[in-house]
Amino acid sequence: MKKITIAIDGFSSTGKSTIAKLIAKSLGYIYVDSGAMYRAITFFAMQNNLISKDHFDKDKLIASLPQAQVSFKFNDSLGFAEVYLNNQNIENNIRTLEVSNLVSIVAAVPEVRAQLVKIQKEIGQDKAVVMDGRDIGTVVFPDAELKIFMTASAETRALRRYNELKNNGENITFEAVFENVQKRDHLDSTRADSPLIKAEDAIAIDNSNATIEEQYQNIIKLIDNIINK
Ligand code: DC
Repeated sequence: MKKITIAIDGFSSTGKSTIAKLIAKSLGYIYVDSGAMYRAITFFAMQNNLISKDHFDKDKLIASLPQAQVSFKFNDSLGFAEVYLNNQNIENNIRTLEVSNLVSIVAAVPEVRAQLVKIQKEIGQDKAVVMDGRDIGTVVFPDAELKIFMTASAETRALRRYNELKNNGENITFEAVFENVQKRDHLDSTRADSPLIKAEDAIAIDNSNATIEEQYQNIIKLIDNIINK
């Protein structure tokens, strides 16, 4: 069967990763959460006191990038790959609101992007990959056979993220999450290097009112059309 590359971009908490994982599983493709890689570098910067709420040592981060090796390892029981920083599993460290509040600053650094985009391109060189992020259809895989641009209202997305964080035991308010979502939308779509924009040939899907099953079926139909063409 023809192998393709699937790029799923969109604002934060649009449910991209849920759909991307389901699609990858049903096709037997690799799933890559590129946002986890930007979160991993942010966590690295936090661990090394290079970033906090009120300071960012950008030059030192750039100089230490060779010491921040980001990779993925497949977890059989979960059915998807988890992110590692210097061979340490950091899945549970990167989803906090603290990382979410700082990640857009780190993701705006061109040197960080160059290092991670290189790894992303390598992972996708044999196709059969579903990758989600902000610049996958525009920068990482501009030739992807299928590009999806997911959107949903800021309220819907903040509520999803709030429920997720609450389930993980974080003590947060909806207002704090809503503010983070809006701030990240702004930073991610206005940065100079690889801002979040819809690729011209991407298919836009607003999933504010769609169930996961509906979204999944919708995308599987698009894939069938490409694979069986
Ligand atoms: O998908 P996410 O919310 O986990 O992504 C975290 C941050 O990483 C997001 O605010 C922007 C950045 N990011 C990026 O700049 N480019 C990507 N391809 C993926 C994520």
